[in-house]
Amino acid sequence: MGDTVRRTAPANLDFVGALLHHLAGVGADLAPRHLGVDARGRQTLSYVAGRVPWRDREDPAFFADPALVRLAELIRRLHDACAGTALAGDAETVCHRDLSPKNTVYRDSPTGPLPVAFLDWDLAGPGRRIEDVAFAGWHWAALGEGADPAELGRRCRLLCDAYDAAAIGPDPVPLARDELVDVMLDQIEGTWRGIDAGADRDEPGMRGLRDAGVLEGVRHWQDWLLTNRRTVAAAVTP
Ligand SMILES: Nc1ncnc2c1ncn2[C@@H]1O[C@H](COP(=O)(O)OP(=O)(O)OP(=O)(O)O)[C@@H](O)[C@H]1O
Ligand SMILES: [Mg+2]
Repeated sequence: MGDTVRRTAPANLDFVGALLHHLAGVGADLAPRHLGVDARGRQTLSYVAGRVPWRDREDPAFFADPALVRLAELIRRLHDACAGTALAGDAETVCHRDLSPKNTVYRDSPTGPLPVAFLDWDLAGPGRRIEDVAFAGWHWAALGEGADPAELGRRCRLLCDAYDAAAIGPDPVPLARDELVDVMLDQIEGTWRGIDAGADRDEPGMRGLRDAGVLEGVRHWQDWLLTNRRTVAAAVTP
């Protein structure tokens, strides 16, 4: 509506509101602004201009190396902006926890479309830096039958390298990249188990995903990554 977006308020509305407020306050410039709740109880956000790769088959430019490098820099900016704040609590930082192309706004540049902001903060919460990097790693790559594990590893390595290179200040914490594959495996398993549990609870969205075979597809990714874990890990860890 106008230059705002209205969406169903997430369960963690107050946390997300405080997080988006904090990010705007420190000038992180990587998320919509939180404008409050409208008369219908909807979360109200500023509209972020740009393009979102929301379809299954998108322009490969959204997944090219320059986009991956910028993606890692944005994740680093998020994590550095939240580390040591009350929002992170005892955790390393605050994680977005749902970093995927369809939750990312891109804008055109001379090197192609580059990520500029993340949307859909419904799952955000305290966590470890490696969690968002690992999650992005498998969401910006192809997995399963026909995919190349060395290419997944190369892309994850690029993300880790760009994330570490974007550090500012003394004694930056290096990413726990030796844990990346295990974190990805946990996330992939959590994804299909979450679909299964939601479908068992009769949630329409999750039932639809299970009926459409998405659960089986994600399980297959887990098996594939288990089979190929050495190849991926060898590419990620220098
Ligand atoms: N602040 C915003 N600025 C611009 N576009 C937005 C904004 N918020 C959402 N969108 C658009 O709406 C789409 C869905 O938004 P969002 O991911 O927040 O909703 P959702 O209900 O969580 O969707 P999904 O279940 O697909 O993740 C995004 O992919 C994006 O195209
Ligand atoms: Mg979304």
